[in-house]
Amino acid sequence: MSSTSAPIDAGFVIRYIDAGNALPDIRALKPVMLRQLALGPGMRLLELGCGAGDDARATARQLRDSGSVVGIDAVPTLVAEATRRSLDGGLPVEFRVGDALALDLEDESFDRCRVERLLMHIDGDPATAVAEVVRVLRPGGRAVVFDFDWDAFVIDGADRELTRRIVRSFSDGMPNGWVGSALPRLLREGGLTEVTVVPHGVAIPYDFFGWLLSSHLDSALAAGLLTPAELIAWWDQLDAAHAAGGFFAALLGVVVSGTKPAVAGGAERAR
Ligand SMILES: C[S@@+](CC[C@H](N)C(=O)[O-])C[C@H]1O[C@@H](n2cnc3c(N)ncnc32)[C@H](O)[C@@H]1O
Repeated sequence: MSSTSAPIDAGFVIRYIDAGNALPDIRALKPVMLRQLALGPGMRLLELGCGAGDDARATARQLRDSGSVVGIDAVPTLVAEATRRSLDGGLPVEFRVGDALALDLEDESFDRCRVERLLMHIDGDPATAVAEVVRVLRPGGRAVVFDFDWDAFVIDGADRELTRRIVRSFSDGMPNGWVGSALPRLLREGGLTEVTVVPHGVAIPYDFFGWLLSSHLDSALAAGLLTPAELIAWWDQLDAAHAAGGFFAALLGVVVSGTKPAVAGGAERAR
């Protein structure tokens, strides 16, 4: 979740995921992805990197009459939390621990795959995860993937050079900070067709901004990427901007969707 290799504090990660999902522009992203999914009766959907499972539950609500949802996440505590949150709903959803880079799932076993803000975090090549998504999709099935490009993180900081240095080091500190701009190509190279791209910006409020950056800035300070005086001056200016109602930071992401082609001569599963 962060750009450092500190041990995972599950409670913190759950609060962080919930706070991210509460951001107005992340809330606005959900219906965009849902439209791209074009869910239909009887579909089986994979939610990859499901976190606490809120999106898996949302799609399960749509599919409750005949379809089903499987949520996969690498962190067992998140899978436990997703399962706990789903106990009373009677929804057709189940959660499993798994690795997006090597899914323990059968070939061609899903009609849809939804992937939100996962690829930037995976400890490996995003193309491998895309290949896994394509493998488990049925011919005619569709993947809808959203991720950020952290080089497109704009911050209205007075010290431009320092702001650029911080943005670049944050992006480079993520396992795959550039994945947003690569996503359309990754889906095409993975073999998906009818690839569509919907850019989606997310404004980052000041409180979440502090949460997002603080541990990275501690590491950047320790690594000598900036001096304590520079960091204090940078925060002081942003604090003052916030106090005056003038803080602004935003991040560009993309919703990229693609269809797995029907096998030549084979029948695409009709939905
Ligand atoms: C930013 S969170 C997003 C969670 C969820 N998609 C959401 O939008 O609320 C990224 C998620 O990816 C999961 N993750 C990271 N690497 C993974 C991997 N290799 N396989 C499966 N899940 C992974 C993390 O545990 C975390 O739950």
